[in-house]
Amino acid sequence: MNRKDFIRNTSLSAFALSSFGFIVKDSDGQFTGDCDTTNDILGPFYRPNAPIRSDLTYDGLKGTKITLKGRVFKSDCVTVIKGALVEIWHCNTEGEYDNDTPEFRQRASLKTNENGEYAFTTILPGKYLNGKLYRPAHIHYRVTAPNSKELISQIYFQGDPHIAKDPWASQDKAKLRILTLSPEDIKGNLSLIFDIYLNEK
Ligand SMILES: [Fe+2]
Repeated sequence: MNRKDFIRNTSLSAFALSSFGFIVKDSDGQFTGDCDTTNDILGPFYRPNAPIRSDLTYDGLKGTKITLKGRVFKSDCVTVIKGALVEIWHCNTEGEYDNDTPEFRQRASLKTNENGEYAFTTILPGKYLNGKLYRPAHIHYRVTAPNSKELISQIYFQGDPHIAKDPWASQDKAKLRILTLSPEDIKGNLSLIFDIYLNEK
């Protein structure tokens, strides 16, 4: 359903436009919205069975450390999903993926806690060539949960000059996945927040 049809077909008792879309609370108190996180390509470097861990760093790893965190929600935009499996993978600062070692470097998965939250500690990814163009820095996501559709997506970084010519990051639907790093604490550690909204099956 597109936004116009949705508005026409819904009897509204509350309406809110947020940074990701809109949420409506109808007369029965049910929430509905168009907050669904948009998909992106899986890419050629996905490896199933990434280890369950929140810290992807290790001694000797080069790069700027970041905390990547958020919550996973149902398509009503407000109900958190406990136990959703969040997988991430990205390249190192040299633009290389770990495609064959048992360490599964820069790859991890974990389940959301009872508040729907996940958090990873990792590094800012580098860039690699796609044909003659560098892809912008990005982190891949695969998110699954019972009763929800699988989400394959990617996040990008605000200000990245390689976004404009990238066939995927430059799409309109990727706009809400271009994120801003913020200084998280007194030590200047950087964090990135990415909340995920799944569709029901
Ligand atoms: Fe990639």
